[in-house]
Amino acid sequence: MRTLISNVGQLIAVPCGPVRGRSMRGVPIIDRAALVIDDGKIAWFGNEADAPVGPFDQAIDAAGGCVTPGLVDCHTHVVFAADRAGEFVQRIGGASYVEIMQAGGGIRSSMRTLRAATENDLVTLSLPRLRRMIAGGATTIEIKSGYGLTPADELKTLRAIRTLSETLPVELASTFLGAHTVPPEFDGRPDDYLAAITDVDLLSTIRDERLAEFADVFCERGAFTIEQSRRFLTACKSFGLTPKVHAEQITRSGATKLAVEVGAASADHLEFINDEDIAALKASETIPVLLPGCNFFIGGDPAPARKMIDADLPVALATDCNPGSCMIESLGLIMSIAATLLKMTPLESLVACTANAAAALRRENRIGAIAVGHDADLLILDIPRIELWPYRVGVNPVRTVIKCGKVIEIA
Ligand code: NIG
Ligand code: FE
Repeated sequence: MRTLISNVGQLIAVPCGPVRGRSMRGVPIIDRAALVIDDGKIAWFGNEADAPVGPFDQAIDAAGGCVTPGLVDCHTHVVFAADRAGEFVQRIGGASYVEIMQAGGGIRSSMRTLRAATENDLVTLSLPRLRRMIAGGATTIEIKSGYGLTPADELKTLRAIRTLSETLPVELASTFLGAHTVPPEFDGRPDDYLAAITDVDLLSTIRDERLAEFADVFCERGAFTIEQSRRFLTACKSFGLTPKVHAEQITRSGATKLAVEVGAASADHLEFINDEDIAALKASETIPVLLPGCNFFIGGDPAPARKMIDADLPVALATDCNPGSCMIESLGLIMSIAATLLKMTPLESLVACTANAAAALRRENRIGAIAVGHDADLLILDIPRIELWPYRVGVNPVRTVIKCGKVIEIA
């Protein structure tokens, strides 16, 4: 199957990730471009005048719009059972995220509702959210467990994610976030909880049924210490799961350095990162993933994105979509927030949501770029210039979503 996409106003030729520092805003833009897909892979791209001649099985007219790589949402908690809109309203009245958490809400609230739901409920509730994410341009989405907090409820969540990945026309990457918080039945006994959640039977099941690719921990005061996080990630790693870390979100804990030490694919959040942490990331292959939707949604200072880009780091962005700290499904909106809160340019944000997010999922050699041989995961946009995407806040310009060369039907 050979497809020609012609009449492309701007082809944003994002190179293979990780794209570091200054190069993030120097991505080539080809005006009046075309692109050829062969067998689901990008086979050629360049000036329309130089496009190879047919025959083609399919011709798509981009009508002067931009073409970009499909977006990669590399950090979400989108499988959950119930909203927490009440907490949203409480925060308007002055309560903080941490106060709500300490009063038994927060992650524990989502834990209670997820435990009461069936695997099938989780699939049914999550499908419309994921469909909206795809309509917003996401062609690869990472999803974490972490609201079950018992072996059975974590497995239920991971199996729901697997069913979703068999149902949806995009790729899902699954993460075991067993160490999200200590559940109430283990109050005051975090080490016992960690022993239960790294039980050999559980980790063997996750490995043998290929239920997760990554393991993640919330390393934070009130959740898990550095030493506990290391223990959790090391146990998961010995069962083939690649580490990821929720790091320096509410306080500076040293979790970024732990992420580097254990060879994590990414360290995520990083609001309280310091110079030492930036230096550690620089000397590593761990991708810094920023989640400014949280700062928009619950407040607090954002991560020092400019400083990190100036330090030549390959910064990635994600939604962190979850019912508590960031009920945002749209990476387009995240790019707008990255512009205003993080002072990232539209091109930097696009690279952060494509090539660098792909690197945070260890898929940079296959997705996230306009590169010959890469999966033809592409978006055709209704805008002639890329900066119009974050500029038109809350407007979705995605007209056509293509996954591995196939046009996805979006409702
Ligand atoms: O990435 N910080 C930990 N986990 C999530 C929030 C989870 C929740 O509030 O449900 C986060 O912000
Ligand atoms: Fe998160």
